[in-house]
Amino acid sequence: MGLLVKNGKIVNADMSFFGDVLSDQGKIVQIGETLTAAPGDEVIDAEGQLLMPGGIDPHTHMELPFMGTVASDDFYTGTRAALAGGTTTIIDFVIPNPQQDLLEAYELWQQKAEKSVADYSFHVAVTWWDESVREAMGVLANEHGVNSFKHFMAYKNAIMADDEVLVNSFKRARELGAICTVHAENGELVFTLQQEMIEQGITGPEGHPLSRPPEVEGEAANRAIEIAHLMNVPIYLVHTSCQQAVDAIARARANGQRVYGEVLPGHLLLDDSVYRNEDWSFAAAHVMSPPFRPKGHQEHLWHGLQSGTLQTTATDHCCFCDPQKRNGIDDFTKIPNGTGGVEDRMQVMWHHGVNSGRLTENEFVAVTSTNTAKIFNIYPRKGVIREGSDADFVIWNPNTTRTISKNTHHQKVDFNIFEGMDVQGLNTVTVSRGEVVYRDGQIFAEGGRGQYVKRPLHSADSQALKLHSAQRKVTPVKRENNY
Ligand code: URP
Ligand code: ZN
Ligand code: ZN
Repeated sequence: MGLLVKNGKIVNADMSFFGDVLSDQGKIVQIGETLTAAPGDEVIDAEGQLLMPGGIDPHTHMELPFMGTVASDDFYTGTRAALAGGTTTIIDFVIPNPQQDLLEAYELWQQKAEKSVADYSFHVAVTWWDESVREAMGVLANEHGVNSFKHFMAYKNAIMADDEVLVNSFKRARELGAICTVHAENGELVFTLQQEMIEQGITGPEGHPLSRPPEVEGEAANRAIEIAHLMNVPIYLVHTSCQQAVDAIARARANGQRVYGEVLPGHLLLDDSVYRNEDWSFAAAHVMSPPFRPKGHQEHLWHGLQSGTLQTTATDHCCFCDPQKRNGIDDFTKIPNGTGGVEDRMQVMWHHGVNSGRLTENEFVAVTSTNTAKIFNIYPRKGVIREGSDADFVIWNPNTTRTISKNTHHQKVDFNIFEGMDVQGLNTVTVSRGEVVYRDGQIFAEGGRGQYVKRPLHSADSQALKLHSAQRKVTPVKRENNY
């Protein structure tokens, strides 16, 4: 049975037009002006509404074991919430413990994700280095469709990648045609500043941003970009939160380097005053890294997104409930880092991006779906409404409103960083591979219907590689006077 959506305005990243969309067997099979349904097809009239590609969230952590606890949203509850908010694909992270076999960790994450209701893919983190890691990266890239490797420059004594790991892993990724993704914060600096805060008696959540100032992110962003430059590998900075990091990306891009940046709605809209709230639970619920920043950074992030210096929006969805956050009641360094948002990203970005005039509807599609599909090489299977693409889309009513609240959201967490925010413009229907999985507040999705999305390697650009190594060759200079 097919699905025919009639009379909608189709909004892709490159253009908008009116038309009908017919999907069958999970794919968009026809787009036209007046399509007719076959017997048995489901028909939806989208008059007055938009059809946009389903959201792709390139940064989630479902069921992540982290800082002595496990993220509360798992692949079932978290991807249900994603569908409710119009996100049809997530890219989560396999994070091996130091010394753990990357393939073993990958299999573990595959098992956890079996209950997923939305499509999912994996970045794999490189948290340590030896020859076996080098080999495992090859197997993951060539056999399992992993074309991106993640590096945490923070979280010393846990999953932090030092320069040895970064250099080796970046070099290996270049050989494979993979992209490197980076959490850019200098873990040594964070560690030292955390000790200083505790020594000064600052033990509450207000110590969190003080121990992770923007310079910590700026230093790591610049270092990662320079290493990527010398290793000649594309790099993607996750959760860019401050002016220093945006400027580092802009500089590198202006110099011709392939550098991408991601931003979270939370960093665009919230500031660091949340950590000084007198309610400990409220402040701790916002503890995530990098922290929310002093006000001025937000405008800079918006400008980064508007100008194309930053290309994607994500959520870093990593939920912890209050009892879990309380592990750090006496010491902010022990508060599990993470906030939610996988359900809210699309609507918050529409409201604050499109309704405010900062983004056009086409730019909205680019930053919530298409750019991610392109950077992580699943375009045009995902990220566009086009014949032959997966039938992943939202029917979007730009006039419908919702007040975001923990009391009504589907995310399995007792807090919402956007609590009380009124948003206008939301998905009335979510379609995933041709199935209506969400409609007017109800989710129709069985656990396990989500499919793993393999991502092909980017073809290594041999010309660029040649050019780059030629630039680094030492050319003998004839002895001559230089005065
Ligand atoms: O605080 C955060 N962001 N928690 C999740 C892990 C990470 O750094 O992305
Ligand atoms: Zn991170
Ligand atoms: Zn993360």
